[in-house]
Amino acid sequence: MSITLSVIKADIGGYVGHSESHPDVLAQACDCLTKAKSDGLLVDFHVTKCGDDAQLIMTHNYGVDNKEIHELAWNTFVSCTEVAKKLKLYGAGQDLLSDAFSGNVKGMGPGVAEMEIEERPSEAVIIFMADKTSSGAWNLPLYKMFADPFNTIGLVIAENMHNGYSFEVHDVKEHTRIVFNSPEEIYDLLVFIGAPSRYAIKAVYHRDSGHIAAVSSTQRLSLIAGRYVGKDDPVCVVRTQGIFPAVGEVLEPFNFPLLVEGWMRGSHHGPLMPVSVEDSTPSRFDGPPRVIAAGFQLAQGKLIGPRDMFDDKSFDNARRQANWAADYMRQHGPFEPHRLPLEEMEYTTMPQVMEKLRDRFQPLGD
Ligand code: F6R
Ligand code: MG
Ligand code: MG
Repeated sequence: MSITLSVIKADIGGYVGHSESHPDVLAQACDCLTKAKSDGLLVDFHVTKCGDDAQLIMTHNYGVDNKEIHELAWNTFVSCTEVAKKLKLYGAGQDLLSDAFSGNVKGMGPGVAEMEIEERPSEAVIIFMADKTSSGAWNLPLYKMFADPFNTIGLVIAENMHNGYSFEVHDVKEHTRIVFNSPEEIYDLLVFIGAPSRYAIKAVYHRDSGHIAAVSSTQRLSLIAGRYVGKDDPVCVVRTQGIFPAVGEVLEPFNFPLLVEGWMRGSHHGPLMPVSVEDSTPSRFDGPPRVIAAGFQLAQGKLIGPRDMFDDKSFDNARRQANWAADYMRQHGPFEPHRLPLEEMEYTTMPQVMEKLRDRFQPLGD
């Protein structure tokens, strides 16, 4: 049976500041999607949050980039914004960058990751959602899951994984795409995905079958809006077990709190901390960046779950390490590499300061 899994997310108001979502906003999202389910548009849904981002996890029969589904998500966010405005939540409607829906939420602010799949006899999926970081944050974890035998032993010893996976990589600035085959092209692949602010893994495919294994949101809010409007706070859907990495292989990359772009004012590097949904409340220097993982079994499109996959003691060390790394990075204050390089910063006063001081710059005369 063919089913589409759509994850569409937006920051439509923070509580307090940018640290958390308000329950009334999430309840409103549930009401909207309950109606869509009873009208037959959705097969099933789950609403959750990661920090200040509302997450709509939906299953349906209409394929990716479907106008009705995108319009449903848009209208849901608009109606949640009304609730957020009444409560005067922080930045109500901040990710809705357009006044009216125009066919597809991509390019309008919300982040989108969708896949249409033939549901397997047992279809296990994990949905990763991050706050206070950008779309390229998934590059290293996806590489480890699908290309690194030191992470995924299945690549070495499971016959149905041994021929590897292919990676679709997007240049988020030039709007181009390229596909790399792993393992034979991993050195070329790494030249690009090692620069996650420019190149983001959009999707991964199982080479033997061509089946989609993972898909991520690659929207860059600042490029869409042309100004700072918050970090992208991306999502990523990963199929697991069988011809795909096992649950433990999919979660394992997050045992290392990699440094990602984001954190305070979207302008810093900081460790990505794996946490439970409840602990996705980035408060320390508006961070550090968080990632949650919602696990589901699909049953004829019904979302059986979620299991809160990082709500597990075995990630305590990663969280400790993330807190240690956060302290370490914070000691740099406004210096790189804690602060992002000039061209990557979401906020900057450089043009104004430069303008003010222009006449005081003298040639060195060498
Ligand atoms: C980062 C983020 C926050 C805000 C910061 C200032 O993605 O959302 O760190 O950038 O709290 O917010 P404003 O400018 O809204 O006062
Ligand atoms: Mg926010
Ligand atoms: Mg956010």
